[in-house]
Amino acid sequence: MCGIIGITRAPVGDGSGRSDVLEVLLEGLGRLEYRGYDSAGIALVGPDASDGLWRARAANGTRSLKDLTKRAEDAPELSSAGIGHTRWATHGGPTEENAHPHVDCSAGLALVHNGIIENHVELADELVAAGHRLRSETDTEVLAHLIEVAVSDHPEIGLVGAVRAALGRVRGAFSLAVVCSDEPDLIVAARRVSPLLMGVTGDSAFLASDIPAILGLTRDFFVLEDDQMAELRPGSLRVTNFEGEEIDPQRITVDWDLEAARKDGYDDFMSKEMHEQPKAVADTLLDRLLPDGTLSLDEMHITNAELRAVNKVFIVACGSSYHAGLMAKYSIEHWARIPVEIDIASEFIYRDPVLDPTTLVIGVSQSGETADTRIAMEEARRQGAKVLVITNVVDSSMARGSDAVLYTRAGPEIGVAATKTHLAQITALEILALYLAQARQALSPHDARVLFEQMGVLPDKVALALERSADVEAVAATYRDSPSFMFLGRQVGYPVALEGALKLKELSYLRAEGFPAGELKHGPIALVEPGTVVIGVATRTPIWEKMMSNITEVKSRGATVVLVANDGDEETARQADAVLWVPETEYLFAPIIDVVPMQLFAYHLARLHGLDVDRPRNLAKVVTVE
Ligand code: G6P
Repeated sequence: MCGIIGITRAPVGDGSGRSDVLEVLLEGLGRLEYRGYDSAGIALVGPDASDGLWRARAANGTRSLKDLTKRAEDAPELSSAGIGHTRWATHGGPTEENAHPHVDCSAGLALVHNGIIENHVELADELVAAGHRLRSETDTEVLAHLIEVAVSDHPEIGLVGAVRAALGRVRGAFSLAVVCSDEPDLIVAARRVSPLLMGVTGDSAFLASDIPAILGLTRDFFVLEDDQMAELRPGSLRVTNFEGEEIDPQRITVDWDLEAARKDGYDDFMSKEMHEQPKAVADTLLDRLLPDGTLSLDEMHITNAELRAVNKVFIVACGSSYHAGLMAKYSIEHWARIPVEIDIASEFIYRDPVLDPTTLVIGVSQSGETADTRIAMEEARRQGAKVLVITNVVDSSMARGSDAVLYTRAGPEIGVAATKTHLAQITALEILALYLAQARQALSPHDARVLFEQMGVLPDKVALALERSADVEAVAATYRDSPSFMFLGRQVGYPVALEGALKLKELSYLRAEGFPAGELKHGPIALVEPGTVVIGVATRTPIWEKMMSNITEVKSRGATVVLVANDGDEETARQADAVLWVPETEYLFAPIIDVVPMQLFAYHLARLHGLDVDRPRNLAKVVTVE
């Protein structure tokens, strides 16, 4: 879950204009910080082989890039190629020694890597025994030394051949970029599992692990696929497989612009992204409701006959994506009448799940890269189940490794805590629930049409919920000193409560737990004492009365109660110390709206505590390790 960027650029004009390699790297790293911010580093080479290699790294949490930028004031004025990295520590602590780029013994070549080298311990032993000096605790560093060995054994193979030889020794996942002072115009890249995109314009060639990092340079990208390598030289790109055979790389064009990856005048990405939620929901609905009132998901390439053959749905995901799945379970069972099991991906993988070709396994992942979910999808395919992935990232690893894909259309999300991608996921899953019902004729055309129409107004209702941001802030201010929060919900309100608790703990580092309100009496109510702040999802559902009984139970033990309630519902409001108002909708769609005040509450409380909402401590946006 690290970020990678690299650029090689030919001389401009009279040959003195090469120094913006450094600026491109630093700017790109700024847009990659959401991949991890334990450290940041860059390495520059050229323009002449005699210039050697220059490297700077900084490991200072969210200030890493700032520190690196300061150190870069000492960088050489001219350079022809460079690579950069932002790290989220996995192997070895978040220290400068462990920061990328890593170098070989002579510090003549440098490498940035995303992924895990599984056999790094045995390789490190072998290298140390051969006299190499490894300076970090990372799995990555062995690669730099393996390349060094390959070059010194066979200088004629050059950097490209040496990287190929080194990769022949490693097991695991990687996307990497290497520069070497002996070949100062060249960047060698390789990929297995972790994504890497490249671009070529005029006198430049560049690469990155994520589109926003290089979106300012192009909108046309080449995708490096698994087990492929690339040679980037100024204005040129050559892609081969690991056997050295040339390959025509796949090309994609994105329609986002750089603005989409910037803050747009908001204080932070989280706020910007929460306010983009009406659009994320609307875009995810777009083209999927046909004028005749039916749903079309032809893009999934699953026939109605195949959908009718489905006997069980299994939803697998992590974090907020898991909550989206939990919300959809109710809709799929209610409308399509198919049993739904749901599991956390890291549990699913090792529980020996019972799957067969009539099982539809749905992996939900905004990034499409989460290791646990990706491995779960591989396991499901191995067992012969049909695998559908719901993701926000076109061409992500999971999208490529599934039988079918349903894309959410939230655009790039930078804030570590999922917001707009989460709402887009719930929307996509609700569409899927109705689509399954339609394919299986479990819903009458009339009922289906009524529901589709209600989906159409969801973006406006989400916008209304967002307009109450200042009211939610006032409630958060009232309870800012509470050390813990209990979130309660029933039925579809239960995953909303879980998401509310997750958001609050992620952003404000406070104890926040979500419980099914009906389960209170079996344990959690023991936590309630005078002053305990309970946040309840009390919008109108068929079991609203039961939810309110549970609220009475905590109130009678002295809890302070904040309730999410539908606009104008004074009966609910009378039971609350404070109310978070939301528009009403069909109750199975309600999570799409009810989750908004939960996000706002966590956001405002964290800001009231002076915390960085975009980069919560210890977390990363894309978690590519188990
Ligand atoms: C990380 C993020 C969460 C996200 C989870 C699952 O923990 O911080 O916001 O919900 O990963 O990510 P995915 O990309 O699979 O949805």
